[in-house]
Amino acid sequence: MVSRKPRIVIIGAGMAGLAAASKLFESTNSKQLFELCVVEGGTRVGGRINSSEFCGNRIELGATWIHGIQGSPVYKIAQESALLHSHQPYEGMDGFFSHQRITVAEGGYELNPSFVQPISTLFKNLLKFIEGEPVEGDGLSSEIVKLCWSNSAPGNLSVGSFLRQGLEAYWGFVKDQKPFDGVGNWSRKSLEEAVFAMHERSHKAYSAVDDLETLDYNAESEYEIFPGEEIAIAGGYSRVIESLASVLPVGTVQLGRIVEKIEWQPGGCSQELRTGNGDGGRPVKLHFGDGSSISADHVIVTVSLGVLKRGIRQDCNMFIPPLPSPKIQAISRLGYGLVDKVFLQLPVHYQETNEFKFPFLKMVFHPPDSELRDPKIPRWMRAASSLYPIYCNSRVVLSWFAGQEALEIESLSDDEIINGFSTTVSNLLSSKPHSQVNSTCQKSQDGSEDSGEGKQVKFDKVLRSRWGSDPLFLGSYSYVAVGSSGDNMDALAEPLPQNSSNLDSPRSQLQILFAGEATHRTHYSTTHGAYLSGIREANRLLKHYNFDVV
Ligand SMILES: Cc1cc2nc3c(=O)[nH]c(=O)nc-3n(C[C@H](O)[C@H](O)[C@H](O)COP(=O)(O)OP(=O)(O)OC[C@H]3O[C@@H](n4cnc5c(N)ncnc54)[C@H](O)[C@@H]3O)c2cc1C
Ligand SMILES: *[C@@H]1O[C@H](CO)[C@@H](O)[C@H](O)[C@H]1NC(C)=O
Ligand SMILES: *[C@@H]1O[C@H](CO)[C@@H](O)[C@H](O)[C@H]1NC(C)=O
Ligand SMILES: *[C@@H]1O[C@H](CO)[C@@H](O)[C@H](O)[C@H]1NC(C)=O
Ligand SMILES: *[C@@H]1O[C@H](CO)[C@@H](O)[C@H](O)[C@H]1NC(C)=O
Ligand SMILES: *[C@@H]1O[C@H](CO)[C@@H](O)[C@H](O)[C@H]1NC(C)=O
Repeated sequence: MVSRKPRIVIIGAGMAGLAAASKLFESTNSKQLFELCVVEGGTRVGGRINSSEFCGNRIELGATWIHGIQGSPVYKIAQESALLHSHQPYEGMDGFFSHQRITVAEGGYELNPSFVQPISTLFKNLLKFIEGEPVEGDGLSSEIVKLCWSNSAPGNLSVGSFLRQGLEAYWGFVKDQKPFDGVGNWSRKSLEEAVFAMHERSHKAYSAVDDLETLDYNAESEYEIFPGEEIAIAGGYSRVIESLASVLPVGTVQLGRIVEKIEWQPGGCSQELRTGNGDGGRPVKLHFGDGSSISADHVIVTVSLGVLKRGIRQDCNMFIPPLPSPKIQAISRLGYGLVDKVFLQLPVHYQETNEFKFPFLKMVFHPPDSELRDPKIPRWMRAASSLYPIYCNSRVVLSWFAGQEALEIESLSDDEIINGFSTTVSNLLSSKPHSQVNSTCQKSQDGSEDSGEGKQVKFDKVLRSRWGSDPLFLGSYSYVAVGSSGDNMDALAEPLPQNSSNLDSPRSQLQILFAGEATHRTHYSTTHGAYLSGIREANRLLKHYNFDVV
């Protein structure tokens, strides 16, 4: 009776959607087994990969790094597509760790590395422990970690509370310290606390959380990263996406098609379906923002967890009928956060004269309740942990922001951002001399001396991402929130309807499949996690139709 080909519609032309599409197409091309299309709400492919240009440099507004090149499928594509070299300067071209860093406290006090280092080591070791890695060297850290671990209540332990316990334990161990030389109005303890808080802000941006108290402790040790270097992609991250899309026949990817409703048949073959009523008996129907619709046998949903969170709200009801409760639970419990990047251009004399190179600036601020706060530094600015050139001696500098402050920055005018950064940097670099800073780059040999004057900095231009307010993303990436677990990610990845083997026709099975970074239990929040999830769902369909999965 049914001789038509199964129709597969993929929602979203980001990494997961295009990985699935290219896998399905390449595995079956010669046999023309499926009708395949990708519907994308935006006006471009790539999703949370968004390469752009700023002041002559290639920069990334979204995904930036390949987190470990060994075994990374993204690295493999970048390598095969010759994207690892470029003549144009690009963000991250000399890696992340080649910069010489200075830590400066509010008021303009450059901190001695011997002051900063014990706190940084403590922080690093606490994180290592949380991530399930061996804590090396330093006997003190091991003692502290042991103490914190034995004091920790089981259950909903957060990364944030564990870290703070670590700091308290540290203070318990190091009561008799050398005298403190005095740094402006800072006390030793307040300064140590503020250095620790700087590391916490940096970890917030890494994890895309508004508050580390919402980041689940237990899930951290499940998270995996590939070994090897972390690199940026010289040709631009978007080219990886283009390379995936390039195998698809023209017209497969349809832009500007926003899916508003997904109608499906939880009970399998309905009467309507058996009689092949309307849409040729395809069980799923997608309704678009422009009033059009399309029917499908299988739909792979790759929209972000943020879009799903909105989708399950009563006032939205993206799924008809609503998703079953394990899905609702997973979607509402898992964390989905916001990270934004802010790029600024320095005035020309800054990096192009030999006098002063903008350093990798790590910023230490007074705590929220302190009277010592400089009122000229905006509150949102205090959410940054660092500001650094995108490569050695570049005129473009970059800060990352997480959570509420990131959302706030999305709504500011360019001038407000420029002024906020300019006053902050002028405060931090106000007192002289920063002559210990020979250059921002370790490789560079020229020992430039600062003239001794404080630095007044006024930035020229700004470019920032806006992942939080964009309705196609509503944030940047997912995390395991306190109260959820990796099991929720597995539940999110389960296809619908449940118990589908009870259903009578293969076309009633696997109506809705889920891919996207939030569905990968161990590589969530990354481009390769998204990629692997897309391949996983393509393979599920191939297997369903008895294709050899390679
Ligand atoms: C600032 C930032 C920095 C990052 N840094 C890194 C990094 O350094 N390394 C790394 O590995 N990862 C990084 N990531 C994460 C990485 O970008 C994502 O994990 C990955 O790109 C997600 O891919 P995806 O296919 O799951 O989702 P998406 O890329 O979000 O794709 C989903 C697509 O669905 C579309 N869509 C949404 N709703 C609808 C609808 N209703 N109808 C039709 N289409 C719709 C969207 O427009 C989008 O194109 C970063 C992300 C951000 C935001
Ligand atoms: C900070 O220190 C300066 C000089 O050391 C002092 O004059 C000033 O009163 C102090 N400010 C506060 C708020 O303690
Ligand atoms: C800066 O250069 C001088 C001389 O070249 C060197 O002695 C000093 O250690 C350098 N400072 C730093 C922080 O690298
Ligand atoms: C993606 O980049 C374009 C410009 O290159 C920009 O207009 C758009 O706002 C970016 N998207 C996000 C979410 O930042
Ligand atoms: C953990 O958090 C969840 C959700 O917030 C709550 O339902 C549960 O009772 C908490 N468990 C413990 C042991 O506190
Ligand atoms: C799926 O099957 C299990 C046990 O086989 C049953 O408990 C559950 O109610 C079924 N769910 C649906 C949606 O049919």
